[in-house]
Amino acid sequence: MKSKISIDFENYALCFIPVPVYLISTIDENKICNIAPYGMVMPVSYNPLIISVGSAKNRDTYRNILQINEFVLNVPSVELLKKVNRTADPIPSSEDEFIYAQLTPIESEIVSPPRIEECNSHLECKTIWIKDISKICNNRVIITAEVVALSLDQNIFLKNLCKQKGLMKPLYYEKHSYFTIGGYVGNRRMR
Ligand SMILES: Cc1cc2nc3c(=O)[nH]c(=O)nc-3n(C[C@H](O)[C@H](O)[C@H](O)COP(=O)(O)O)c2cc1C
Repeated sequence: MKSKISIDFENYALCFIPVPVYLISTIDENKICNIAPYGMVMPVSYNPLIISVGSAKNRDTYRNILQINEFVLNVPSVELLKKVNRTADPIPSSEDEFIYAQLTPIESEIVSPPRIEECNSHLECKTIWIKDISKICNNRVIITAEVVALSLDQNIFLKNLCKQKGLMKPLYYEKHSYFTIGGYVGNRRMR
């Protein structure tokens, strides 16, 4: 039997798997654009495509989603790491974060917030509901949304997922450190 050690909650990161990093692009009522990195993002259904996002309430991202009910999950690659960090800087909500982070807005297919051209893929989302969990978890909400459009860079449009994820080079995050995907290790048929 493997011997186990108990971990105090302060060291939670030792037990968790790092979270995938998305850049969420939003706009406010005056069409000012905002971008922020989010790791607390998870698919909850693939048919229909539903995702949930964990957010603090004191984020421009959250305030914009409340106003507009739409947002885009953009998938950055490791090359964008420095710009990802820039989008996490606390800048005034009156400032366009595309300009601040030197990223390029491109029109989305369905929703009003723009996609980020430099990212590899884009999930355009419309809010279904927002659950305020402040009572159990200070100042936080869960946003659940339907993905209404998907798009991808032409050069990573490969049906072979092993190769495709290698080219995508997504970022993962845990306690101030970034990681990337390790590589293909097997499939569901393996026993
Ligand atoms: C890699 C990374 C992942 C993050 N994930 C989340 C998250 O899932 N939820 C959240 O509320 N904040 C998260 N943050 C913090 C926000 O991105 C950060 O506070 C940002 O300044 C918020 O910007 P905004 O006010 O423009 O929305 C994350 C930060 C980093 C660097």
